[in-house]
Amino acid sequence: MAAAETIQVGGPAPYVVTVGCGVAGQVASAAHGALRVGLIHGSEPAQALARIQRVLTAAGHEVTSIPVPDGESGKTLAVAQQCWNALGRNGFTRSDVIVGFGGGAVTDLAGFVAATWLRGVGLINLPTTLLGMVDAAVGGKTAINVAAGKNLVGAFHPPVAVIADLDLLGTLPESEYRSGLAEVVKCGFIADPVILDLLATDPTGLAQRSELVVRAVRVKAEVVSEDLTDVGRREMLNYGHTLGHAIESACDYSVRHGEAIAIGMVFAAQLARHCGLLDRASASRHRELIAAMGLPTTHGAPLADLLARMRMDKKARGNALRFVVLEGIARPRILESPDIEQIEAAYADLLPT
Ligand code: GLY
Repeated sequence: MAAAETIQVGGPAPYVVTVGCGVAGQVASAAHGALRVGLIHGSEPAQALARIQRVLTAAGHEVTSIPVPDGESGKTLAVAQQCWNALGRNGFTRSDVIVGFGGGAVTDLAGFVAATWLRGVGLINLPTTLLGMVDAAVGGKTAINVAAGKNLVGAFHPPVAVIADLDLLGTLPESEYRSGLAEVVKCGFIADPVILDLLATDPTGLAQRSELVVRAVRVKAEVVSEDLTDVGRREMLNYGHTLGHAIESACDYSVRHGEAIAIGMVFAAQLARHCGLLDRASASRHRELIAAMGLPTTHGAPLADLLARMRMDKKARGNALRFVVLEGIARPRILESPDIEQIEAAYADLLPT
């Protein structure tokens, strides 16, 4: 078994992300010092859940299991309230901790509960999906959804530790895994071309899974260490997300996040090409690699609706559209208010043939 890798995340509240096979048991030492552990979890396989409960109990922690719905439907005020009620019933104090065990939505919710209970208790993220490991569990943003939109109510509350046990990916449905790979390839395009080479050799990402996860986490760790509160460099992590978010919301979130941002990255590359920023070969590399990974590269919905949604994106300034684009591989920059003709031309490149 390959040794576990640790990645340091800096900033005002530094922590370590551990990536490896069979590392989930480290949750017990990460919870050191806490008497009670609130284990907020989705519908994880019974064996994996029992193991986490067992190691925590064996280490002397009083474990309160708090099951929540999987996916975005669990990121609600009502579910957060159920969690707070469970913590209250079990006498959770400032020195107790929350463990978020599940996919990205579960760790977002667990983070929000940890950020708000007694104005903030410790959070350990134990992601069970690839998307969670390389994106949602790392970075310190926590949120729930409200009627006005996704992730609109939340707090910056970095975890005290993130433990990414690659063995947990064994039961992940293939489509979920592939969706997570979209965030991995994004890290390749914006910062680490070795990721692109690894995925070009093995588009399933299975042969070099550990290295891909470690490299993607390093990219995110480096960026959020410098910009926890998303006022600067962190925006580059939004590559492919301006159109991607619009597609997700237009489809009422029936499309997977990774699929939507895959299309968004192909669009961003074409947009950069039409604006004279990115060469044709690099733009084509996006489409070819993303397609080889089994992710979508085309989209045929009316542009007008997506444009309206993009203008309402959290990242938009007033009515101006902002895109993260590349001036070359691993050279991201912001493109503000491109001409509508350039947007239309880039979007036309996405139409299915
Ligand atoms: N929790 C995800 C992030 O901070 O980006």
